[in-house]
Amino acid sequence: MSRFLELVAAGALSFALGGAALAQSTPAAPAGGGSTATAPARQVPDDPVPGQGAGGIQGQNIFDVKPEVKRDASSEPGYMEQNNGQRNRVQPGNNAPMWRGVQGGVEGYTSLPKYQDPEAGVLIQGPVAYPGSRYVSAGQAWREVRNNWIIPYGGSLVLIVLLALALHYFAMGPIGQHHPDTGRKIERFTPFERASHWANAIAFVILGVSGIVMAFGKFFLLPVMGQTLFGYFTYILKNLHNFAGPLFAVSLVIMIVGYARENLPQRGDMGWLLRFGGFFGGKHGEEPPSNRYNAGEKLMFWGGVLFLGLIVVASGLYLDKLLPGMNYERQPMQVAHMVHAVSTVLMVAMFMGHIYLGTLGMRGAYSAMRTGYVDEEWAKEHHRYWYEDIKAGRIPAQRSKPLTIVDDTQTVRTV
Ligand code: HEM
Repeated sequence: MSRFLELVAAGALSFALGGAALAQSTPAAPAGGGSTATAPARQVPDDPVPGQGAGGIQGQNIFDVKPEVKRDASSEPGYMEQNNGQRNRVQPGNNAPMWRGVQGGVEGYTSLPKYQDPEAGVLIQGPVAYPGSRYVSAGQAWREVRNNWIIPYGGSLVLIVLLALALHYFAMGPIGQHHPDTGRKIERFTPFERASHWANAIAFVILGVSGIVMAFGKFFLLPVMGQTLFGYFTYILKNLHNFAGPLFAVSLVIMIVGYARENLPQRGDMGWLLRFGGFFGGKHGEEPPSNRYNAGEKLMFWGGVLFLGLIVVASGLYLDKLLPGMNYERQPMQVAHMVHAVSTVLMVAMFMGHIYLGTLGMRGAYSAMRTGYVDEEWAKEHHRYWYEDIKAGRIPAQRSKPLTIVDDTQTVRTV
């Protein structure tokens, strides 16, 4: 019962308060007792101007509050489609349309003749997506490929190969030779073969060292040398790179012609490959028989010297602008640079293995290329089929004509 009385009292109270509020918001009758029918009710605005409002604390529905919009030229329809002239009329000094065009590769006016400078009117190249880059202006896309892919992955590959070769050397030592020399010599490389090889090898080392400094030097040399010295050093190497390139190209072609025939596939190559040159199968350290060149050398010849070598040389000569009648605009130059960088990194990784085996990695190999001669025992151990062909007289043991002089007594003597 008492609960019921409480409810009735609460209802009466709220009714009385509601009535009072209604009475307050009703417009007051005009002074002088004029009729309320002729005086229209004054509307209280939602958001009254301060000082002019109805007075007192005013409430407002949050959903009716609109953000304040300051109108300027950017609210005009077609603002984003304006050209630079139109934009400058409504917003003097705002050159955004021009710069948007520049960044999008739009060609501007230049007084230079097209045949002389085909790209002079284009300040920034248009957007493109190179493999591994975002769709951004071509210069930036090229930079992303170089800095995000070629430099980190190429550098890692070179370091991994270096580490693997060092591990091989310290864990297993140089390959061969298991039996003592016989003292009987076989000519392995003629002077002409050696000359073309060493011209090529010297050029390769200059190119490799200068290329590595240009690409990776800022990580390991710059902190040690400082900016000035590193700048001059890299500048000298860059010029050496440009001059060693053509020497490499010419000696490479001579080598390809001179060495191709004996690098053709022959019997025993498959077996050599399947046993990985003696790493797997057979007695430890015993190489599977091979001809003058084994299958590993042949792979290096066709894959490294011919395939990669020609790509490296072609892209390098193009980057040096030495190929006549070519288009040397920025985009093809960027593509050529990426091709050159990828193929040279692969070639360097491959030839690090070759240089290792030709010096520290295999006993007797270096003197073969330096003097031209190997001991019979070396030939038997590393190139058994070649050795057997020589023994059987199918290949001469001396291929070049020995150098001779005529002495004072008119006798012809070998040097
Ligand atoms: C410092 C650098 C180099 C050193 C020390 C070196 C050393 C050698 C040695 C010792 C041989 C003889 C191997 C044997 O008797 O079977 C050889 C062979 C050969 N080298 Fe090099 N080399 C170097 C760089 C190069 C370069 C840059 C190339 C080519 C781009 C190259 C291509 C060849 C070829 C084609 C052969 C003959 C093997 C074949 O035709 O399969 N070498 N090298």
